[in-house]
Amino acid sequence: MTDLDTLEGDLLGQVGSASDEASLDAVRVAALGKKGSISELLKTLGGMTPEERKERGPLINGLRDRVQGAIATRREALAEAALEARLSAERIDITLPVRDAPESRGRIHPISQVMDEITAIFADMGFSVAEGPDIETDDYNFTALNFPPGHPAREMHDTFFLAPDHNGQRKVLRTHTSPVQIRTMRSQEPPIRVICPGRTYRHDSDQTHTPMFHQVEGLVIDKTATIANLKWVLEEFCRTFFEVDAVKMRFRPSFFPFTEPSAEVDIQCSRKGGEIRFGEGTDWLEILGCGMVHPNVLRNCGYDPDFVQGFAFGMGIDRIAMLKYGTPDLRPFFEADVRWLEHYGFRPLDIPSLVAGLTS
Ligand code: PHE
Repeated sequence: MTDLDTLEGDLLGQVGSASDEASLDAVRVAALGKKGSISELLKTLGGMTPEERKERGPLINGLRDRVQGAIATRREALAEAALEARLSAERIDITLPVRDAPESRGRIHPISQVMDEITAIFADMGFSVAEGPDIETDDYNFTALNFPPGHPAREMHDTFFLAPDHNGQRKVLRTHTSPVQIRTMRSQEPPIRVICPGRTYRHDSDQTHTPMFHQVEGLVIDKTATIANLKWVLEEFCRTFFEVDAVKMRFRPSFFPFTEPSAEVDIQCSRKGGEIRFGEGTDWLEILGCGMVHPNVLRNCGYDPDFVQGFAFGMGIDRIAMLKYGTPDLRPFFEADVRWLEHYGFRPLDIPSLVAGLTS
């Protein structure tokens, strides 16, 4: 074995075991760089006799060509292996199940859904939405609504009182949405047509009562609003809300300090087989209170009852949500149990409207 054979075997071995581009390049420099082993051999050709050169020349050149070729082949193999490794590291397993996007996983609470439905129905009849604070003064919650101080009707509201402030005044958690009537009348001129949905509070808790619940108030004030208009508005609302052709309603005389005359409204239903259906049957279900706005209330808001009049109504939202969506117990509405919400909740992009359908 000649020196050249030994060198070739050695270099090809190093090329073969170079595991990345950097170590391969080091082998190349050591062999073919300026001071590389093969380059040094090539330099010796200049000092040889023509006969020696004729014999050694092709041997050394052949060695250089084979080593160069081996390096190029190895470089290609290494590049290919590197690409393979990257491809397999970046591979996406498209057989994994697709997880729903957050916006389609979330659920709208039935109360929010029903509030949106109510708003859509009344907006179609020309009502706008008014709001007021949950913490009210005694004046807005009672006195301005014609509950005289000490009047027994105040006791019926099971009021939550806050600690007295520095003036000794005790604010209350509003017991109904009717204070928003006063706020609206004091800040707007007739004609007024508003609904006021919101939270209300009473010291009460059982299967159909929770300390916090929701009401929607309606108020119409102008020169000619009558009980006939009130009945039409409520009938139209119930028909659309419960998605039936006709609902029978019963107006029972009642008492509220802020309306005169006052009525409570029942709707006809059937409860056959534990299921409530509207527009049929022989049972009656109370859903709201209403009446013509009391002249004292108009006066308390700076209006002259000889020139303007109107009607108001107040409805329990949770109640009608239970009726429409068939939930037997009110309390889970407020327990924030995600499994309950997944069952009874609504898809966020199914926004209720009279055109697209309330509950598509
Ligand atoms: N505020 C009354 C209640 O909570 C309901 C109502 C509103 C009655 C408007 C008449 C008019 O019981």
